Parts: sequence; C-alpha cells; structure tokens
Amino acid sequence: MSREIYVVGNWKMYKTAREAAEFLEELGPKIEQCKAHVYVAVPFTSIAPAARVTKQSRIVIGAQNMNDAREGAFTGEIAAIMLVEAGAKFVLLGHSERRRFFGEENRFIHQKVVRALQEGLQPILCIGEELEAREEGRTEEVLREQIETCLKDIPEEEVKKVLLAYEPVWAIGTGKAASPKMAEEAHAFCRKCVHKLFGKEVSDHMPILYGGSVKPENIGDLVGQKDIDGVLVGGASLDPQTFSELILNCESVK
Ligand code: PGA
Repeated sequence: MSREIYVVGNWKMYKTAREAAEFLEELGPKIEQCKAHVYVAVPFTSIAPAARVTKQSRIVIGAQNMNDAREGAFTGEIAAIMLVEAGAKFVLLGHSERRRFFGEENRFIHQKVVRALQEGLQPILCIGEELEAREEGRTEEVLREQIETCLKDIPEEEVKKVLLAYEPVWAIGTGKAASPKMAEEAHAFCRKCVHKLFGKEVSDHMPILYGGSVKPENIGDLVGQKDIDGVLVGGASLDPQTFSELILNCESVK
C-alpha cells in the first residue's frame, strides 16, 4: 500500500507574523519541486499573513489548537470558523503539550475533532505515550485508548480526512527520537486500532506521521518504514534551511 508523504512543521509559540512571512517566502522556492505534502502549523496571529504569502506555493497553513465550541463566551479561545476564515486548512489537536500543560483529555479532544471536521478543517490528531507508560509496558493500552476515544463514532467518510500523528512524549524536544523499529511497531499498532474501528479501507489510507526529535539526519530511516507516512516536526522546522533539507531528504526515500 503506498500512501502519500506529509511533512508537517509545528512552530509552537515561536515566530511573529513578520518572521513567519519571511520564513515562508524563503522556504517556498526551495521545495517547489517536492511531491510531499508540506504543512506548517503557525501561531494564530501568523495564519492570515502566512496563508497570504503561500497562496502561490505548495505550502499549506494550519493552526496548533482550537476550541470545540462553534462560538461563545470563552475568553481567550479561538473557534474553527475563525481559523478557516483566516486561511487555515488544518489544525493540530491533542498535542502532548496541550495535554500536559493545559489539561486536555481525550474526550475534550474528541469534541474538537468533531468540530474541526464540521467546519472543514483537517484534523491532525496527536497521540503518544509518556515515558512512564512505556516503561510500565502500557504503550499499546494508552494508544488504543487515545485512538478509540478521540475518534469515537466519527462516520467513515469523515474519519478519512483525519491524519494521525504518533508522538512518544519522551521523544519530543529531547533530541532522542524513537528508533525506526520502535516507531514502526507503534505505527503498525495504531493502524491495527484504526482497522478495528473503521475497517480496512480507512486504515489502509490513513496517513500516520511520526513526531519527536525528527531531523534531516534521521528522517530517511523513519519515513522508510512501512507504516510511517511522514513526520511532525517541532525544533527542526524553525529554520528554513534545516526544514527544507529535511523535506528534500524524505523525498528520496519513498
Ligand atoms: P520536536 O517536536 O521535533 O522538537 O521534538 C515535535 C512536536 O512537538 O510536534
């Protein structure tokens, strides 16, 4: 089964709108010939300017979070419809930093997935185990629970639009990526869970990305694995030279 490749940058709370525009203007021409899907999840204030400067390029702009309500009295929150109007095409949901620092749980993330789909935003659902869970042999249990709860009762036609990102929490920002073998095992397990819930057609087609200390040096071995269909990149997406190198390196693999 050959699936398309996705390289998704996650800028977290880095880059002002001006810095974002400059970065994307520089990145565009470097990756013009690439076949991989190139997505960048930028801070809210950069969405509109980033969408503007990438209009003619193949870079797709998205957000890093959103609220599950359509609109309402939720001071400081942002709605999917606002992201769409600003030019976002996708949204990261359930990133481990949201879970850890902002107390987001699977059921809340599920509501966000439903809302994003309703408003036409492609969700990238992030899942992954903490170090403690891995050491206790509970990795599969955690992943199963995250997938089952966050994708619960979503109709097949809708779930086809979701991208899954497996990000072991202990590998994020630590410089210690999972080995390709370890990552592949987790990806194969996630695909099995999706298969069980939605059947073969959905599980065969769902892109499952790996995230956690991806760099130009290790992307080839990761994306070379059967069930790894791309990457979600934090630190190494912040410099246009490194990020373009990373995108070009993954192209040579599949
Ligand atoms: P990292 O972050 O590439 O810096 O490890 C990945 C992420 O948080 O998505």
